[in-house]
Amino acid sequence: MPATQAILVTGATGLLGRAVLQRLLASDARLRAIVLVRDATRWSGAGLHERVTAVEGDLRSVGLGLTGEVHALIRQQVRAIVHFAADTRFSNPLAQAQAVNTAGTEHLLELAYECTSSVRFAHVSTAFVAGRRTGTIAEELDAPSAGWVNAYEQSKYEAEQLVRRHAADWVIFRPATVVCDDCHGAVSQLNAVHRALRLYRAGLVAMIPGTDRSTIDVVTTDFVAEAIATLALRADAAGCVAHLCAGDGALPLGDLLDMTFAYWARDSEWRRRGIARPPLVDLNTYALFERSIEEVGDPSIKRLTRSLSHFVPQLALPKLFETSTARALLGFGAPPVREFWLRMVEQLFAEGDTALGATRAA
Ligand SMILES: NC(=O)c1ccc[n+]([C@@H]2O[C@H](COP(=O)([O-])OP(=O)(O)OC[C@H]3O[C@@H](n4cnc5c(N)ncnc54)[C@H](OP(=O)(O)O)[C@@H]3O)[C@@H](O)[C@H]2O)c1
Repeated sequence: MPATQAILVTGATGLLGRAVLQRLLASDARLRAIVLVRDATRWSGAGLHERVTAVEGDLRSVGLGLTGEVHALIRQQVRAIVHFAADTRFSNPLAQAQAVNTAGTEHLLELAYECTSSVRFAHVSTAFVAGRRTGTIAEELDAPSAGWVNAYEQSKYEAEQLVRRHAADWVIFRPATVVCDDCHGAVSQLNAVHRALRLYRAGLVAMIPGTDRSTIDVVTTDFVAEAIATLALRADAAGCVAHLCAGDGALPLGDLLDMTFAYWARDSEWRRRGIARPPLVDLNTYALFERSIEEVGDPSIKRLTRSLSHFVPQLALPKLFETSTARALLGFGAPPVREFWLRMVEQLFAEGDTALGATRAA
């Protein structure tokens, strides 16, 4: 990319955006980046200030809320947009999720269209645009929807459709859930999986929706960031949907729970509390359980159960994410979940039962 050209990165203050931007800048000394941030004072630039320009904007605004001057700079200089920014909360109402994830993507596509050169649109989606579908999930855009577990999934699905319709040169990345930084297991950003584990360890969950065929597809930041940095600007990735997932390296839910509870049972203090692994139940039974908690549960259990309801039903909708396109393009795949899961659990609970306090506060 010539010195006068740049990439525009959204979501660079987030977990994946920051990790990918660092890799992209490290891999090409000529590359310059413009980062769209909501609050420029919070942008630290990860020590790469001289090649990164922060501009303030908000995906929810038409024109992204950019000044005329910034808009003109982007139009003239940007040759690729790498779009990470999203509202990643599963509990959002649909309109709120769509305002950032769907309309926000549309606003960015409009900006791409206005650029003077043709722009690569590298869109970071999620494997869970598959929503309530079960079975093998292909790396394609045309599968009919079966509905979604939460508004986040739906808004991200809708964004993909916009990208396909309006971007001239696109690639779509669909990561599975990121649970730790790398295969050493350090957790630098908590999400629904960690919060669910805290509840299970504290014995606060009576049952888990799931089947014997359910698998847990989770990945590391390292893998996802390396994959996106490798492919975002590559010409041969044009028009591809890449599942950045463990795929056949995902673990069956039953095995994963057995491993996790056996690990916790090594701690004699935890063992004394006699907390058993919750049984796996079907979605109807789980829905009845949720309803009974709503009717007669105490307020804190109600709050905990509601916090899970935006996410755990996915466990009872077994999927195998195909990864052949991503693997062929990358020449490598995600590390198998077995390689890092227990290290992640170990680090998540390194402070022992203080985890329970944190969950109650969440
Ligand atoms: N992490 C995962 O497990 C995972 C899995 C699958 C897919 N993904 C996808 O990967 C992408 C990045 O995820 P992440 O975990 O890195 O996200 P994250 O850490 O939650 O960061 C979200 C980013 O989006 C920005 N943002 C939110 N609302 C915005 C708005 N209205 N205008 C402009 N920027 C806004 C945030 O900026 P502020 O700093 O201003 O808040 C932040 O930089 C997302 O598209 C997500 O759907 C993530």
